Amino acid sequence: MSPKYIGITALGSYVPKKTLTNNELSHLVDTSDEWIHSHTGIKERHLASENERCSDLAVEAANNLFSNHARNKAEIDGIVVSTATPDYVGFPSTACIIQDKLGLTDIPAFDISAGCTGFIYALEAARGMILSGTMHKVLVFGSEKLSQVVNWEDRNTCVLFGDGAGCVLLEETNDNRIIDCTLHSEGNGAQALVIQNDSHTITMEGRSVYAFAVRAIGDTIVDLLKRNNLSLEDIDWIVPHQANERIIAACAKRYGFNQNTFYMNIERYANTSAASIPIALKEMDEANLLKKGQKIILVGFGAGLTYGGTLIQW
Ligand code: UT7
Repeated sequence: MSPKYIGITALGSYVPKKTLTNNELSHLVDTSDEWIHSHTGIKERHLASENERCSDLAVEAANNLFSNHARNKAEIDGIVVSTATPDYVGFPSTACIIQDKLGLTDIPAFDISAGCTGFIYALEAARGMILSGTMHKVLVFGSEKLSQVVNWEDRNTCVLFGDGAGCVLLEETNDNRIIDCTLHSEGNGAQALVIQNDSHTITMEGRSVYAFAVRAIGDTIVDLLKRNNLSLEDIDWIVPHQANERIIAACAKRYGFNQNTFYMNIERYANTSAASIPIALKEMDEANLLKKGQKIILVGFGAGLTYGGTLIQW
C-alpha cells in the first residue's frame, strides 16, 4: 500500500479593512513610529470592528479560500480552529460557530489553545486525525481578534498586536505533503505571556519572551533539519510566526541562518498570533513564491510557553 501523504491544497485569508498606523497609535500612548518600527519592524496593524468577532474573521478567510479554489464546501468533514481570542470564553467553541456560519452540519469541530504556536498545533492535530481516518478534508484556521484583549493604555504591549485570520484545507494529496512536525511546551514559563482573568487583557514579560523566541525558533529549525537529514541549503522558505523582526534577525545571526530565507510581513499586520502563519502562507501563494517541490519550514512560538515547527514539501 502506498503511503498516505497529507498536504495543504487550498489557502484563504482575511484582514479587516480598518488600519491603525504607528503614528495614529502615538496619539493614544507615549510612543512613536520610530520606536515601534526600529524595535519590532511593525508599521501598521488591521483592527476588526466592534461587532466583528473571531468567527467572523475566520468565515471571511474561508470564503476567500472557496472563492479562489474550485472546492465543494460540502466535502469538508472537519474544522480545527487555533485561537486565543474565541467568540466566547470557555464554550461554545469558535469552531462550532464557524461551522454553522459556513452552513456545514454534523462534522467534528473544535478549538485548540496554544498561543501563537496554535496554527502549528492545529495543523498537526488535523493531520493526525486524517491519518487515523476520523476526518478527511479539514479546514484548519488561525483566527484572532487580539484588539479585544489588548490594554490600549499599555505601550509595552498595545503596539504589538493586530487582528486577522487565515485558513488552509488539509487533506490526502500527492501534490504537496507535510513531512514532519515537532511540538513543545514549557509550562514553567506560563506567566510570561498571559491574558489576565480579571482584566481580560494581555500582560507580557517582553525581554524573557524575546530570549525564549530566539531559542525556540533556532532549536526548532535545527531539530527539523537533523531529524530529516537536511541542511539549511535544502530549505527554500522559513515562515515564522510574525512577532518581531528583531527576533528573526537575532535568531538568524546566532544560528547562522540566512535572514532572506525567512518570509516576513509583520510590517503590515503586526502580531496576529495564531493567524500570522496562515496569513503569510496565503500571501506567499498569491505572490507565486511557493513552487512545487520546495521545502518549507513553518515555525511558531508563544504563550504557554509553546513552540514547534512543520516541515512541508510543497
Ligand atoms: O507572539 C508572542 C511572542 N511575543 C514576542 O515574541 C514579543 C517578545 N518581546 C519583544 O519583542 C520585545 O521585548 C518588545 C518589542 C516587546 C520590547 O522591546 P525591547 O527592546 O525588549 O524593549 P524593552 O522592553 O527592553 O524596553 C526598552 C525601553 C523601556 O524604557 P526604559 O525603561 O529603558 O526607559 C520601555 O519603557 O523602551 C520603552 N518602551 C517603549 N517606548 C516607546 C516600551 N514600549 C515602548 C513603546 N514606545 N511602545
